[in-house]
Amino acid sequence: MAILVAGGAGYIGSHTCVELLNRGYEVVVVDNLYNSSEVALERVQEITGKSLKFYKGDILNREDLEPIFENEDIEAVINFAGLKAVGESVAKPWEYYHNNITGTLILCDVMRKHGCKNMIFSSSATVYGDPAEIPITENCPKGQITNPYGQTKGMLEQILTDLHTGDPEWNVMLLRYFNPIGAHESGKIGEDPKGIPNNLVPYIAQVAVGKLDCLGVFGDDYDTPDGTGVRDYIHVTDLAVGHVKAIERMKVSPGVHIYNLGTGTGYSVLDVLKAYEKACGKKLPYQVKPRRAGDIAMCYCDASKAREELGWVAERGIEEMCADSWRWQSNNPDGYRS
Ligand code: NAD
Ligand code: UFG
Repeated sequence: MAILVAGGAGYIGSHTCVELLNRGYEVVVVDNLYNSSEVALERVQEITGKSLKFYKGDILNREDLEPIFENEDIEAVINFAGLKAVGESVAKPWEYYHNNITGTLILCDVMRKHGCKNMIFSSSATVYGDPAEIPITENCPKGQITNPYGQTKGMLEQILTDLHTGDPEWNVMLLRYFNPIGAHESGKIGEDPKGIPNNLVPYIAQVAVGKLDCLGVFGDDYDTPDGTGVRDYIHVTDLAVGHVKAIERMKVSPGVHIYNLGTGTGYSVLDVLKAYEKACGKKLPYQVKPRRAGDIAMCYCDASKAREELGWVAERGIEEMCADSWRWQSNNPDGYRS
């Protein structure tokens, strides 16, 4: 039996492949390499000393998916395959709705045709909008989502829940990630954004390595301890382990389940900058800029449901997250093209 990792060549997917292989799972990856490199999968095999199977393919294409289910004995699917840039999704809503929603619908259709009805889905804290309560529990109502990317997450959560209602043989784990950062401790795999990064840590990493001049801090007048935005940063390896725990839990607790995957601790933009300066051993320039449209002041979770039901806790702190990010960035200044 194997786990199919859709989008497995990407940032979170590649780290999850490592944790699955380390725990003895057979791993099959399907990815169209739109936002990733096959080198990541070579590195996954280097790190683990184990092999995985890779199908270059698109979840939008049945013809790409059918052979996988015909040739492999797929027990469950982890679906990372999606477009994820918030700003781009506002400019290209059709592309986001089509890729993320149509893609997942087709993947589910091929799955059920082959009798595989176990899905672990990459959702996001973005579904809480400006959260009604902090720390955010899974009972916190979904909020006003301000961009098409976030809408695809909210809609897919509903679609997957409805699949289970219509056919209780479907088991669905909706994993709401907070802010994944860092890289595998080996420094061999990590986040490799195309162009200028939108997210905080990839941006800081490129300032640290000399590719960008100065970090823009988006607002210092929020109602937070130092005025800058507060987020729940989680080490990508901890997040990856959360997926393995979710697969194990699914076997004993069928149905639809929602879990927040975060540390439960919030750090401000300036806290992260300070931790990164410590990791790379130099001062990093920054400049305060106006607030970024759509940003909220504060977002961190109550992670107790995942602890109690999945037996999962995030073990790595902000210093380790920054140290591992720096190891990856400094060893691979141009990402997988280095
Ligand atoms: P990523 O872009 O690195 O990985 C996504 C992978 O999916 C890429 O390898 C891409 O080539 C592939 N892909 C995209 N569309 C595809 C398609 N139609 N067919 C086949 N492959 C396709 O992104 P990531 O950061 O690893 O995120 C993985 C998932 O987690 C995404 O669904 C994302 O929305 C979600 N998520 C990410 C974050 C984050 O901050 N990184 C936060 C919350 C949720
Ligand atoms: N920030 C800066 N400067 C930058 C980039 C970010 O000051 O150059 C600030 C933001 O204003 C925010 C914090 O750093 O306060 C974190 O911003 P990110 O862009 O790294 O992350 P977000 O919390 O905005 O969004 C991320 C993902 C979304 C996901 C969300 C919740 O990008 O896809 O977490 O999971 F929906």
